[in-house]
Amino acid sequence: MSKLHQKTKEITELVLKAQAKAQAESSSEPEPGLTQEITWPVQCLVGPGLEGAIACESKIGYVNGTKGWLIYRGYDVFDLCAHSSFEEVAYLLIHGNLPSPAGLNTFKKKLAQYREIPLTQKALANFPLKKMQTMSALSLGTILMGQEFTENETSLTEAELGKLISSDEDSIPMETKPRGEEHAIYEFAARKKRKTALEVCYHLIAGVASITATIARLRRGNVPIKSDPKLSHAANFIYMMTGEHPTPVQERIMDIALILHADHGMNASTFASMVVASTLSDFYLSIGSGIAALNGPLHGGANEQVIKMLRKVKTPKKVKSWYKKASARKEKIMGFGHRVYKAYDPRARILGPLAEHLAQINPDVLNLFLTAQAMEKEVVETLGKQKRIFPNVDFYSGIVYLAMGIPTDLFTPIFAVSRVAGWSARILEYLKNNRIFRPRAMYRGSFNREYVPASQRTGTKKNT
Ligand code: CMC
Repeated sequence: MSKLHQKTKEITELVLKAQAKAQAESSSEPEPGLTQEITWPVQCLVGPGLEGAIACESKIGYVNGTKGWLIYRGYDVFDLCAHSSFEEVAYLLIHGNLPSPAGLNTFKKKLAQYREIPLTQKALANFPLKKMQTMSALSLGTILMGQEFTENETSLTEAELGKLISSDEDSIPMETKPRGEEHAIYEFAARKKRKTALEVCYHLIAGVASITATIARLRRGNVPIKSDPKLSHAANFIYMMTGEHPTPVQERIMDIALILHADHGMNASTFASMVVASTLSDFYLSIGSGIAALNGPLHGGANEQVIKMLRKVKTPKKVKSWYKKASARKEKIMGFGHRVYKAYDPRARILGPLAEHLAQINPDVLNLFLTAQAMEKEVVETLGKQKRIFPNVDFYSGIVYLAMGIPTDLFTPIFAVSRVAGWSARILEYLKNNRIFRPRAMYRGSFNREYVPASQRTGTKKNT
């Protein structure tokens, strides 16, 4: 057991208790057809928003929405939160196995090295970050960091490009020619003057945290600070944001939050980053797309919206009437519902008790937590029963961060600090047998319209 785990036994107990509750309440209903070997082309029933579509095969992570499971590379996320660390989990997602002590040490050293991003910090300081959305700033920082890493890189020659790119996006029916690793990974790995794809992953995992911390400081008029190589990823992240060393409980809770957000199947931001990577674009741009997708209030942006909502509601007593009105207006309640989970989200099962633990120590967030608890009861009793809608990861995470003194504009970037591990792992995996993502739309527009010169057009008829 690590020193941190020894010092924070009460947190481990909370996680194990949540795990026991999940196991007791988890349905034994099997989830059909999502873990079997497939032969392409695969038949599946697809709904709007690509619901039900199988985009690829993966060994990285699995979400069982009926049972409320979250698995990374075969490990239950509850076990990882109870016994592991973010560094181990990031390594696991990327490499497929937990690291040996020596492997972990090397990985930690790499992260320590890549946390230093002086040119990116300097460049970011020249932007009006106070006026920018934090996620836009994070996306910008990620692209700048890519530039810092590959500054001396030369571009491919025409001949190299011709050899390496052979995507015929409109070919129908589906091509069966395999896309080998050597071919697909060229943009990220095979170029002599460029760092390997793995190094880029390490750089991103370390660097997105440094960028977030830098943005946090610059937005508040503070200068960015250097990382402390002796600290864990979670502790260092808090330190680089606040300039203060976290308590063991704060470090452990941040570590758990990072583990919980690290991967989650083919969610919108993962898919977005994979789509960009599948064009053999650039790794940093692919991660930038993940950040852009994560920003939305239906995805990672929900954690900030939850706090806004709870602040509007004000007190636990007002929940009932607020909820009644919101339901009558058919409003979506932020932090509830999920495309995949039709059971209690295991991440919320852990974050809820952590929020409660912190709320008991920090009276500033107690009212917010109690309001959230009352809201959960109300929603679960109604929408839970009617539509299998339960709290998701975003419902309690904001309270956890607020209780640790982290302001709301950093909530969604923290999601990215963690999810960059899953994005990177899935990009690497997909590129091993890359095929450009290129679905079709059903055309429902008109045909054979006659072009009319501008001068002869009469009204502003609605497009058909
Ligand atoms: N509050 C009230 N009703 C809801 C909610 C909600 N939060 N979520 C879903 N519903 C209802 C929805 O109105 C619909 O009802 P009906 O069938 O009567 O029209 C039904 O449940 C299905 O909803 P949907 O919008 O078709 O579901 P979806 O799979 O397209 O959307 C979701 C999933 C997460 C976008 C949605 O539940 C939502 O908007 N939740 C609120 C935002 C949120 O908390 N997002 C974070 C998601 S988890 C973390 C992450 O992925 O980043």
